[in-house]
Amino acid sequence: MSIRIGILTSGGDCPGLNAAIRGVARAAYQALDAEIVGIRAGYRGLIDGDYQIMQQSQFSGLLTMGGTILGTSRTPFANMRVVEEDNVDKVYAMKMNYKAMKLDCLVTLGGNGTHKTANLLRQEGLNVIGLPKTIDNDIFGTDFTFGFHTAVGIATDVIDRIHTTAASHDRCMIVEIMGNKAGWLTLYAGMAGGADVILLPEIPYQIEKIAKVISDRAKLNKHFTIIAAAEGAMSVEEAGMKRKEREAARAQREFRNVSQHIAANLESLIGVECRSVIPGHMQRGGSPCAYDRVLSTQFGVHAAELIREGRFGLTVALRNGVITENKLEDVAGVPKPVDPDDQIVRAARRINISFGD
Ligand code: F6P
Repeated sequence: MSIRIGILTSGGDCPGLNAAIRGVARAAYQALDAEIVGIRAGYRGLIDGDYQIMQQSQFSGLLTMGGTILGTSRTPFANMRVVEEDNVDKVYAMKMNYKAMKLDCLVTLGGNGTHKTANLLRQEGLNVIGLPKTIDNDIFGTDFTFGFHTAVGIATDVIDRIHTTAASHDRCMIVEIMGNKAGWLTLYAGMAGGADVILLPEIPYQIEKIAKVISDRAKLNKHFTIIAAAEGAMSVEEAGMKRKEREAARAQREFRNVSQHIAANLESLIGVECRSVIPGHMQRGGSPCAYDRVLSTQFGVHAAELIREGRFGLTVALRNGVITENKLEDVAGVPKPVDPDDQIVRAARRINISFGD
């Protein structure tokens, strides 16, 4: 009996989405009499009934391709039950379209927000399997998400390239790395790129402590400093505020971006020449690295295996190096911040990397 599998990608794109889609499809075609329905632009496509029946040939050439062939969108979980101006009951529409597409199950590739909606659809009786993707690596219950290692490589390359200018010009260079709530990407890239200071949302900084690193280095005849700062890095004062209050305070200051803000503060505090570099969405772009190609494929294959076994309401995961799964209800939306006592943080401190605390 044939089985109809819907696939969608939701939230920010990242390297490895296409490789994961390919993994699901190839394994499903091999193990099952599968028909695959590609849903356009994330949950938006499920709400609007925007989809196409995929041909096997459409899953060729995807392993190395960045972005997502299905397109993606951010459809906030908080609004899923809210009927907006378009007067559409989104949850009802998704259930109706799932039926209209004659799906037996739905595979959702995404981050924490995507998982929350997947869990909502599970509660509504749909057969759902989630695959964890994000360059932030902030999904609870999996050692790594796909996309993360590629982004680490890109951000590390930026720091490497900044090093030469910092050293040649005796400058302090601040590289702002993606990650609003979680600092994993900054931690790994900062460590790999040999940053002198790493600033994470999880470890509030004091500007005076960063300034001291710069002057201590000068005493050792090192006249440049590299700072890797997560976009969500916050000062001790900011950490003491509620989110809305913090956002309002940031809106008031001269520079909203953390790297520019810190650069301006350091310049006025100790007169050192500072520059900020923001690689931004480049960190999500391009072809997945070898690690992510393998992980995405493994995740996709495991999803197809779960479908074959008729096991739903799960997310695929890597735990202690083993490909396995979690219950959606246990992990949906649960964040995975950097533990300030993480072994990488401890190792960094032991080689005199400062966290500005
Ligand atoms: O979740 C991935 C991510 O790249 C974060 O690191 C970043 O804060 C956010 O997405 C940016 O989102 P957008 O692409 O919508 O600006």
